[in-house]
Amino acid sequence: MAEQLLIDTTQDKATRYQLLLPQIEGLITGEADGVANLANISAALKEAMGFFWVGFYIVKNSATSASNQELVLGPFQGPIACTRIGFGKGVCGACWKEKKVMLVPNVDEFPGHIACSSASKSEIVLPAFKNNEVALVLDVDSDQLNDFDAVDEKYLTQLMRLIERFI
Ligand code: SME
Repeated sequence: MAEQLLIDTTQDKATRYQLLLPQIEGLITGEADGVANLANISAALKEAMGFFWVGFYIVKNSATSASNQELVLGPFQGPIACTRIGFGKGVCGACWKEKKVMLVPNVDEFPGHIACSSASKSEIVLPAFKNNEVALVLDVDSDQLNDFDAVDEKYLTQLMRLIERFI
């Protein structure tokens, strides 16, 4: 396993993703532990892409929630965050419920958005599947409005397919 990322942070976003994804694939190949892999992936995304907040919410069983499951905070990089999110709640819960990528240019205009940090202005959330059910979501938040686009969606979607190899 490589000990450091090789990323030229002066390159444009698409180029950085193209450099990053094979390195992430290298990081996770041969390591079966999910927490270790998610932790390294969040660190790699933070370092290469400079995201304000990036991390995972994992679907877990819960005796106290109405749906018997909820999203629980997993490995992340950035300011401390909400630990539990219900089915259909906020952008992450909507991604889980609708089983699709949520691209939110302005979080203040998203009904039910959960503000873990008032600095968050836009976000993208993507699902990873196991047995056709959402097993976890990747949440990326920006302190700028309208900071995510089809380029992020394209490459982060490729990343979710890599993540599905070990979850
Ligand atoms: N904003 C997210 C909650 C998670 S944090 O921002 C890290 C949401 O609405 O689901």
